[in-house]
This record gives sequence, C-alpha cells and structure tokens, in this order.
Amino acid sequence: MIRSVVVGSGASKPRNVVKNSDLEKSVDTSDEWIVQRTGIHQRYIAAEDETTASLGEAAARVALDDAGLTVDDIDLIILATSTPNNTFPATAVDIQHRLGMKHGAAFDMQAVCSGFVFAVTTADSFIKSGQAKRVLVIGSETFSRILDWEDRTTCVLFGDGAGAIVVEAQEGVGLSNDRGILTSHLRSDGSHREKLFVDGGPSTTQTVGHLRMQGREVFKHAVAMITDVIEAAFDATGLTADDIDWFIPHQANRRIIDASAKKLNIDKKKVVMTVDQHGNTSAASIPLAIDVAISDGRLKKGDLVLLEAMGGGFTWGAVLVRW
Ligand code: ACO
Repeated sequence: MIRSVVVGSGASKPRNVVKNSDLEKSVDTSDEWIVQRTGIHQRYIAAEDETTASLGEAAARVALDDAGLTVDDIDLIILATSTPNNTFPATAVDIQHRLGMKHGAAFDMQAVCSGFVFAVTTADSFIKSGQAKRVLVIGSETFSRILDWEDRTTCVLFGDGAGAIVVEAQEGVGLSNDRGILTSHLRSDGSHREKLFVDGGPSTTQTVGHLRMQGREVFKHAVAMITDVIEAAFDATGLTADDIDWFIPHQANRRIIDASAKKLNIDKKKVVMTVDQHGNTSAASIPLAIDVAISDGRLKKGDLVLLEAMGGGFTWGAVLVRW
C-alpha cells in the first residue's frame, strides 16, 4: 500500500525573542505567574517585515533542502494557518509564488491550533488517493498580530513562527512497522466556538479582530479531547503508549501536555516540550517542535511519533507516523 513518508523538515523563527520579563513592562503580569501556569519562558515575535508568508517560505526552503528536493518535485502545498497575510488569496499561493513554483496547487487549511494535524491528514489523503506524490506541509503563524496586547489573560500565551515537512508517496506493506503516516483521526465541535475565537472577520465586522479565550474552559475540555482522539489512533493500529518513541503535542500549556501524557501512560522522557521556548504558536507549534527534536538528535528515522493537537472550534486530532 502507499504510505506518506516524511522525507524532510525545517523551521523558521522570527528574529526577536520576547521574554516574560519583557512583558512585565507592558502588562500587569509576572514571570512567575506565566511560568507556573503555562511553562512559557519566552516566545518569538515577528518584526514588521516578517509575515506568515515569509516565515512559511523560509521554513519550506529548509525542509526542501533537508529532503534534497526542489519545488519542481512538489505537486501540492498545504499551509496550516489562522493568521494569513490577507483574507485572500490563500497565503499558500503566496508561498508557492515566493518559492518559484508555477505548477501544481496550493491552499490554506484553517483549524487553528489543530491546523498542522489537519494539514498532514489532508496531505496523506491526497497521496493515498494518487492525486499527489510529494506534498509540502507548512504550519506558519503570526498570532502576535491578532492578540489584544492589553489583555494579560491571552497576550502572554502566544508566539510566532513556522515549520514545514515534505511527505512523499512510498510503497509500504501495510503493517505498523512501515515508515510513514500509519493513521490519523480528526474531530471538531462548533458548539464550543465562544470559548476560543477571534472577534472579527470579513463577513461580520470587516475587521481582523482579536483573539478571545475563556482559558479555564479550554483547559477543562483539552485533556479529555486529546486523550480520546489518541486512544482512537491506538485502537486503529493496535499500537500502545509503550510503542511510542516520541510524543510531539501541540504546545499550548505545559500543564495540559503533562496531564495528557500522564492520562495516556506516556513516559515523561518521550514528551517533546518546546512551549517554554516558543509559547503557543498555534499551527506552527508541532513542526517547530519536530525541528527541535530532530536538531538535538532525539528524533530519528524509524521512530514512532505521536502528533496531537487541540484548538479553536473546537478542533482536535492525532496522527501516528513512523519517521
Ligand atoms: N498574569 C498575571 N495574572 C493573570 C494573568 C497574567 N498574564 N492572566 C490571568 N491572570 C489572573 C486572573 O486575572 C485571575 O485572577 P483572579 O483570581 O484575581 O481573578 C488568576 O490569574 C487566575 O486566572 P485563571 O484564568 O483562572 O488562570 P488559570 O490557572 O486557568 O490559567 C491559562 C490561565 C494559562 C490561560 C489556562 O487556563 C490555560 O492554559 N488554558 C488553556 C489555554 C489553551 O491551551 N489555549 C490554547 C488552545 S489552542 C488554540 O486553538 C489557540
């Protein structure tokens, strides 16, 4: 059977680092509060000349180099983002142009913090149906542009950045020791809309709007939703927490990640945690964490990796992939 195998990855971060102590100067908060409640120590914030498209382009170039490929080898670009450069055209098309690619297709995928999991799953479907051979999957965000910098309950949580992977159609035998995406499970439930949303948009206010969140409400649902969809991934493959080499979750909050890993009996040593360095970068957080785990030598070819995310919508999902 055809498998979607990851053949390259990369990331790009804005130049500017903003530490918790920097935020203490502009909002009524403290390093102690932020670290204790979230695990975040710092985040990267895009400068004026850095956008979702420019960060996404840079991450894509690194991923293509890492794969030893050029855009000529790619037939589809999927960009996961909730902070596009413009309402339209899709920022994926902008990135396609920046990369000098005139063939194939490119589109954006909007599932907020679950965007990368949704995009990887979509890439896998295109590959399995024979509609694409190699897909560039990017998660890129500039959440700093939709934050209300006077709202201390949200502005301390998020950051900017981008990550990308290249997935390629390869022949597998259909067993769980195949390389590539083994299973993916997506969920959404729009009844939770008011708990995490942006209070603007083209068809309502004709403004971009700001992120609004009932943090405690999100927290309350997060662990149950995350563990439920991961258990579905385990059930579909017969794999268990013991089989996992690396758990690479969406990086929203250390406490959510710790509680999810504990509930699933995933060994702490297998959890890739980057929320301390990056904050919550929404759809970019998983590929940024992948980049860290590869760069520091942890994540290697053949490892079994569990990706998971939950975000605005609510949306949530999990992917099991053998690297
Ligand atoms: N600095 C200092 N104090 C603060 C800050 C701050 N930055 N923010 C809030 N507080 C205060 C509150 O005003 C409140 O004070 P009060 O008790 O006097 O009213 C107190 O701290 C506690 O506030 P809570 O909101 O109850 O704090 P909580 O422990 O729930 O932590 C947090 C808040 C970190 C937001 C947590 O609820 C959380 O992580 N929720 C999940 C958020 C999340 O994961 N979102 C991302 C989803 S992904 C996506 O799709 C974007």
